[in-house]
Amino acid sequence: MSERTFVMLKPSAVERGLMGEIISRFERKGLRILAMKMVRMGREEAERLYEVHRGKHFYEQLVSTIAGKRVLVMVLEGRSAISVVRKLVGATDPVNAEPGTIRGDLGLDITDNLVHASDSNESYEHEHRIFFHESELTG
Ligand code: CMP
Repeated sequence: MSERTFVMLKPSAVERGLMGEIISRFERKGLRILAMKMVRMGREEAERLYEVHRGKHFYEQLVSTIAGKRVLVMVLEGRSAISVVRKLVGATDPVNAEPGTIRGDLGLDITDNLVHASDSNESYEHEHRIFFHESELTG
């Protein structure tokens, strides 16, 4: 069944020039890029994106790592897109991410682990609305 997911390339992916490499992995897998844009992440948007982590020991660092920085946000579509994208991205901590995954191949830092991807349809619904209007996703 076709599904949608929200993906954000974090500041390090943008700054290190890894956007093309990462997008290409999604495209080669067969996922469709439904919408995509570069935005300068506001503090309030960062807090909304990560609100499920509020109160955790890494929350403040997580928000301040992306707030005020350029990130690339996108909506991808395809068969079981949520789990497929999370497999391509790899384990949260790049130290544990398998070679062949984005985090396994390209990073080491856990806070700035290159990519954020929705972990459920509920997260997708919350996350994509922070950056996209429904009109940007049709057609
Ligand atoms: P992400 O997929 O963006 O979703 C939440 C983020 O929190 C996660 O990637 C990591 O960057 C960060 N994170 C999760 N667990 C930890 C942790 N134990 N220490 C520091 N950061 C974490």
